[in-house]
Amino acid sequence: MTALPDLSQSVFSHEEIVALLSVVDPQDVEAVRAAAEKVLLKECGNGVYLRGLIEASNVCRCDCHYCGIRKSNTKVRHYTLAQNDILLLAQQAANLGYGSIVIQTGERQNKTFLDALEKTIQLIKTETVSDALPQGIGITLCIGEQTEETYRRLFKAGAHRYLLRIETTNPVLFSRIHPADQHFETRVHCLQRLKKIGYQVGTGVMIGLPGQTIEDLANDILFFKEQDIDMIGMGPFIPHPDTPLGGVACPDEATRLHLGHMMIAATRLVLRDVNIAATTALQALDPAGRERAFRFGANVMMPLMTPGEAREDYNLYPGKPNLKETNNDYQVSFSAFLNEIGRTLGQNQWGDAPHASRGGGNSPPFSS
Ligand code: 5AD
Repeated sequence: MTALPDLSQSVFSHEEIVALLSVVDPQDVEAVRAAAEKVLLKECGNGVYLRGLIEASNVCRCDCHYCGIRKSNTKVRHYTLAQNDILLLAQQAANLGYGSIVIQTGERQNKTFLDALEKTIQLIKTETVSDALPQGIGITLCIGEQTEETYRRLFKAGAHRYLLRIETTNPVLFSRIHPADQHFETRVHCLQRLKKIGYQVGTGVMIGLPGQTIEDLANDILFFKEQDIDMIGMGPFIPHPDTPLGGVACPDEATRLHLGHMMIAATRLVLRDVNIAATTALQALDPAGRERAFRFGANVMMPLMTPGEAREDYNLYPGKPNLKETNNDYQVSFSAFLNEIGRTLGQNQWGDAPHASRGGGNSPPFSS
């Protein structure tokens, strides 16, 4: 049994991160959790920021072996939201005080789709009305690998944050869970391109993939740090029956859920001033799993705004909870939950990670 590292330090070695992720004894778990919460409050404050999640299209050119909306899954009913629907959802997000939205789609690189998206972003920026948001509503994109030119156009149109998960930083595992035409290096280049253009950049991994080790997960956290990442979104892997990984053995649900929370805490301890989302996959494994993540260092919530008919078709993994998160009662009870744990709902703010305005972490704090 490995001893816990010094939890008050700000630089952790690979071995120490492995030790953080390996804790199972409830007292040790609590010590790591409390340390992560302390770092969060010191570096980011007690606000929890909202991004209204709009799953704008489930059409995808990729065939990732884990994903329910993969190209080869013929059971998927395809949809693309109309521009006007997206504009209405953006206005609804502003009215609810969310401050920002995430537009997520399958990976599509065709011109018609990208031109329409560019226009939609411009219209959201100019037409969403809110006195509380003088710079307009914040827009995060999550639309996969694209060319540098596309990333630039969409940035210029008004998107300022981008999420692109690396899924795993073990290149062998990466190639096992993706078809041969998808490359780990391409993802890394995309992340670097996004950063260079000026986006605040988010990435993340799936936790509990078949064959993934604790050492891999520790490397993932070090990768986030090396790449100077501003935002993290990660959650447990959930096998989808209509995918090639659907029947492959992976750790049991309780282990994946536990590791999901420990990854959040360890990432908070190592990266400190980044935004970390409490993801829906945590909730798919346990109704309280996502809210628990806020106690382990998460500070971003992404209420699902996709309209009813479409949300069933954006089925990345089974058991995705069909949440009524945009109704007022939900917001009141979520806010009450946050108050109980000493946090506040950060309304009408973009809620950028402090890391992004600190000029990034290119010079790591390895002073001695
Ligand atoms: N289990 C958990 N997460 C998944 N994703 C896709 N499929 C699954 C699954 N079966 C995640 C990937 C992707 C994000 C949009 O959803 O990490 O980047």
